[in-house]
Amino acid sequence: MELDKLNCIDIGSNKIRSLSAVIDKEYNLEFTAYCECEARGIKKGKIIDFEALCYSVENLIEQLEKKSGHEIKKVFASISGGNIYSSNSQGRVKVASPFKEISAEDVSRAINSAKSAPLPNGKEIIHVIPREFVIDGNGGIRDPHGMAGENLEVNVHIISIDSMFLQNYRKIFERANVEVKDFVFQGFASGESILTEDEKSFGTLQVNIGSGTTEIVVYKNGGPVFSSVLPIGGDAITSDIAQVWKIPSEDAEKAKISYGMASSELLEKNETIEISVTDDLHEKFETKELCDIIEARLEEIFGMIYESIKSLPETKELTMAVVTGGTSRMPGITLLLKRFLESLGVKVSVKLGVPNLSGPIHFKKIEDKYKNPLYSTIIGLVITGLYNKIGSDDIIGSPLITKIVDYFRSILNKRGGKKSGL
Ligand SMILES: Nc1ncnc2c1ncn2[C@@H]1O[C@H](COP(=O)(O)OP(=O)(O)OP(=O)(O)O)[C@@H](O)[C@H]1O
Ligand SMILES: [Mg+2]
Repeated sequence: MELDKLNCIDIGSNKIRSLSAVIDKEYNLEFTAYCECEARGIKKGKIIDFEALCYSVENLIEQLEKKSGHEIKKVFASISGGNIYSSNSQGRVKVASPFKEISAEDVSRAINSAKSAPLPNGKEIIHVIPREFVIDGNGGIRDPHGMAGENLEVNVHIISIDSMFLQNYRKIFERANVEVKDFVFQGFASGESILTEDEKSFGTLQVNIGSGTTEIVVYKNGGPVFSSVLPIGGDAITSDIAQVWKIPSEDAEKAKISYGMASSELLEKNETIEISVTDDLHEKFETKELCDIIEARLEEIFGMIYESIKSLPETKELTMAVVTGGTSRMPGITLLLKRFLESLGVKVSVKLGVPNLSGPIHFKKIEDKYKNPLYSTIIGLVITGLYNKIGSDDIIGSPLITKIVDYFRSILNKRGGKKSGL
């Protein structure tokens, strides 16, 4: 029996994706409609034509309503862009109860005190994620509720974003007559669908290389310790090919997808490809040159990723890197990233991040097409929506549900103070 519905929208620079799902009483998820459209009015995660973007979102929501057969009033929406700012902070309170038992209020006060650290001008908090609780100097505690102690500390990871940017996103959804239940940073959404709990614990660099942005999140001890967004993605590769070969972007994109590889060393042999520039003008190019262009740009992106994480203590302890997003579909990208990081002394295993459809969440009648890095963010949004629902229901159910509730309550910060944006 159906318990609730979830509607999610991922505004990317190339595609806007939307997904409707129903949650049943056992908290299983079933996708009921998926719709996508070309993203108009957004480039490198920045709104460049507000009206065009509003129109795209409004239309997509209408399509999703038709396909799913229900009216859409609330959505979970992804957010990204170069104005994302992450920081780590600490909160500390005295436990209030005379019996020294930590209550939800104590946790909430500790988190609020961590949130009170000054933010850069014009920024607004969208996520406060408790990473660890410390009771009377003893750290590593994930959920302190009910435990005994006098002093409670919490280490949190905070994501904030330009208020004006967020304001524009809110307006887009107002125009479409839907309420945004939560804005979720695209990097976190992807992490929810592609990473296992072990990967989040042992030290993982997660990169989502889309078309116009690259989200970076470093996970350690079960949660994020660093998040950032680079205003660059696979479109930069396409424009490099178009510029070097002096061909239209559409042809460059086709050549990239059909013949591209992350490195020319991976080519079995150098082949000639013919591109019809006009009806009667065909030009010949070599796949080796194509792959050299791709490799140079990917290495530049990897260099930017490394620059942003190199000073973190966690970088030295990374055990894994996971690459997802549309550009991760480039053959050989995991090999290139591994080689690149190794050349800088970072030894990790590298894997492709695809939505894990056999994890703790049970997806009913799921199609195999979703096991694709293109869907990491949108599926992660649905999972975030489900956790949000579980957190707000405050249910105690099967061991699996209890396990999920326990773990994700900390992420959703439901008991420990209301998350901004909810
Ligand atoms: N098979 C492939 N090989 C190489 N690149 C690919 C492949 N398939 C898709 N891409 C690239 O992936 C990018 C689109 O990725 P994605 O759909 O994740 O972006 P987006 O979510 O719309 O944008 P963003 O997240 O950057 O705002 C495009 O640049 C596209 O060329
Ligand atoms: Mg994306």
